[in-house]
Amino acid sequence: MLGTRVVAYRDPAGSTVVHSAWCPHLGADLSGGEIVDGRLRCPYHHWSFGPDGRCAHIPTGDKIPPGAAVFTYPSAEAWGLVWMFNGEHADFAPPVLPDADEGGIAFEAHERGERPWHTWIAVSNGVDFQHLRTLHNLPRDRDARASRRRCGQYRVPS
Ligand code: FES
Repeated sequence: MLGTRVVAYRDPAGSTVVHSAWCPHLGADLSGGEIVDGRLRCPYHHWSFGPDGRCAHIPTGDKIPPGAAVFTYPSAEAWGLVWMFNGEHADFAPPVLPDADEGGIAFEAHERGERPWHTWIAVSNGVDFQHLRTLHNLPRDRDARASRRRCGQYRVPS
């Protein structure tokens, strides 16, 4: 994502956490690590990083270097998705759908598995009615606002 690798998980309170996947120790890929005691543990030497990104534990007992931290992207959960902001602080909140509330939205997955395209394309398609009308035959006379309210029930023809 964004030309790099990230790791996403939930902290012990259930909040989303998104870190850079680059371990500041020797550069191992943290996406191969595990969540242990609420912290992200590197697969290589088991340094552990808290949800704030700072190294909180080195199993050999070595002193934790002051700069030992992974970059933490601001993140939030909304509309059944994890949103992250590419920067130190989110400049805006996740988008809202007019006249809709999160509890009224249902998501269906008709296919599972990895997709050979960027995530932003899949996410943007979900609310792109021009795309749905042009490529997936969403009826042109369908009211977009009604469709938004029913988007979880609408099955996109393939
Ligand atoms: S490379 Fe991650 S702890 Fe050593």
